[in-house]
Amino acid sequence: MCGIVGYIGPREAYPIVVEGLKRLEYRGYDSAGIALFDGTELKVAKTKGKVADLEDRASKEITRHGNVGIGHTRWATHGVPNDVNSHPHVSNSGELVIIHNGIIENYESLKQELITRGYSFQSDTDTEVLINLIEDVKKQENVKLGKAVQIALNQVIGAYAIAVFDKNKPEEVVVARLGSPLAIGIGENEDEFFIASDASPFIEYTKNAVYLEDEEMAVIRFHKGIKIRKIKDDSLVDTYVQELQINLEQIEKGGYDHFMLKEIHEQPKAITDTYRGRLLTNEAIIKMAGIEDNMKKFLNADRIIIVACGTSWHAGLVAEYIFENLARVPVEVEYASEFRYRNPVITEKDVLIAISQSGETADTLAAIKLAKSKGAFIFGVCNVVGSSIARESDAGAYTHAGPEIGVASTKAFTTQITVLTLIALRLARAKGTISSSDFRTHLLELEMIPKKVEKALQSDGLIQTISEVYKNASNFLYLGRGYNFPVALEGALKLKEISYIHAEGYPAAEMKHGPIALIDENMPIVVIATKKGHYEKVVSNIQEIKSRKGKIIGVVTEGDTQVKGLADHVIEVPETLELLSPLLTTIPLQLLSYHIAVMLDKNVDQPRNLAKSVTVE
Ligand code: F6R
Repeated sequence: MCGIVGYIGPREAYPIVVEGLKRLEYRGYDSAGIALFDGTELKVAKTKGKVADLEDRASKEITRHGNVGIGHTRWATHGVPNDVNSHPHVSNSGELVIIHNGIIENYESLKQELITRGYSFQSDTDTEVLINLIEDVKKQENVKLGKAVQIALNQVIGAYAIAVFDKNKPEEVVVARLGSPLAIGIGENEDEFFIASDASPFIEYTKNAVYLEDEEMAVIRFHKGIKIRKIKDDSLVDTYVQELQINLEQIEKGGYDHFMLKEIHEQPKAITDTYRGRLLTNEAIIKMAGIEDNMKKFLNADRIIIVACGTSWHAGLVAEYIFENLARVPVEVEYASEFRYRNPVITEKDVLIAISQSGETADTLAAIKLAKSKGAFIFGVCNVVGSSIARESDAGAYTHAGPEIGVASTKAFTTQITVLTLIALRLARAKGTISSSDFRTHLLELEMIPKKVEKALQSDGLIQTISEVYKNASNFLYLGRGYNFPVALEGALKLKEISYIHAEGYPAAEMKHGPIALIDENMPIVVIATKKGHYEKVVSNIQEIKSRKGKIIGVVTEGDTQVKGLADHVIEVPETLELLSPLLTTIPLQLLSYHIAVMLDKNVDQPRNLAKSVTVE
């Protein structure tokens, strides 16, 4: 949450920082700000609102020149989103300036101490406390900026990714991280440096990046390079430069109106990229290095614990059904935020799978650390390569979905399910819980899924018509059973987060234990009623809804006639194995929420109050 961008080098910093902030807006968009140094003057512009508002303000308030710049797009934690609370924050002397992503938990006591020493504060933020603490240390101890940042951070409890510079020494920017990501892009010949929460702001300038680890800081000096140290003990750390895998095209809209729509349509390719090189149908094998190298851990595990949040948690629920069915291993799926705080029983025989698109979700990361400390084996399923969760895991498998920029997760969900299905199938084969012919059938069918997703996407026009009918509903209910119960949860989440319509997902059979009371002629109910698995039972549920006059939108298997005769609308998806059906049934639900949100004129890619990467707990 919050995006930070910085530049130091021979170019004008303003366009690089502002364009970078636009790419990081998915991390938060409550307010935005920039600080530039042009050789004589420190200039700061900041405002409540989006980066576009910042551009407007900056054009009126500051000359936008300077070769050193830092910028911020905020997801508010301490202090309401307003101009004063926006970053960057400047120290009392006017010399030091900071941007910060994270939370300083002990800021109140630090603030009181600074007030007794004569400091005053304009904002309600923890960040303004931090920059004045750095200033105070710098003065009291008479040390350079890097040292002052290090001493100050050792007094801080919380999480941060920061960038700080001193207008008296603008050829140097100090950065540090604990719990929030920070990447440093290194220009050719080390003559320019980029700082960002992820690499997207600088990919057109360099493919070389260094990712700071937790508890590391770096002093970046124009023409002199980077020095990385451990914040706690001051020891030097080797600079490990990675080559970036993403390109500019992947993070642009490519002709679609929104990133979310682009990402929905990318799913056939994303799923193919996920199983490419892993699903070898000709040889009838699944090859995944992270599993092969750790097969014993998986085979000896008493159970698998899956931890995740939000959409990734829904993918974990689908995986629970798949793992238990195919590999006959007990699975528990946990909200990372609950798991980490409830003193769970974890043993060395547990395998913990952490699922996270961003790989940065604070609760999931903390859950991993907890399980690791108790000796569990940690397997990460992440999308963002090199992310904190990927690095903290003992082994893992990337989803290879490509960058997901729309705040509402779409292709991350289907690719997570794809990876988890591959793992379950591989384990089932190793355990002998699936016959070779069934195994082969599953591989062949999984290979067909991208084509079938393409077909499911063709219902777009019909879904627009249905969206038009129900766009003004105040509530929606989503029902599904078995593998499609988590899809119902996911469909409801998608609608809530981008259209702000209240929606609930329920196991279809649970409807009669409460939610049925909500049903009347104003209530649209999306029912996933694909053939196989409990079909007849779901049909009975549909009848129960119908007799209470609820409006039924059925998601059915191609050629279905029974539900068609009962429902107000049906959306068909191609037939597949029941276990793979979530990869298809989720597509119309994504499109439904997308079209309703667009018709209601909501900001689809940046829904209110949300952020793509939730690095606060
Ligand atoms: C919903 C959504 C969130 C995320 C959740 C976990 O569309 O995007 O619910 O799924 O914040 O994020 P990751 O997967 O990055 O850990």
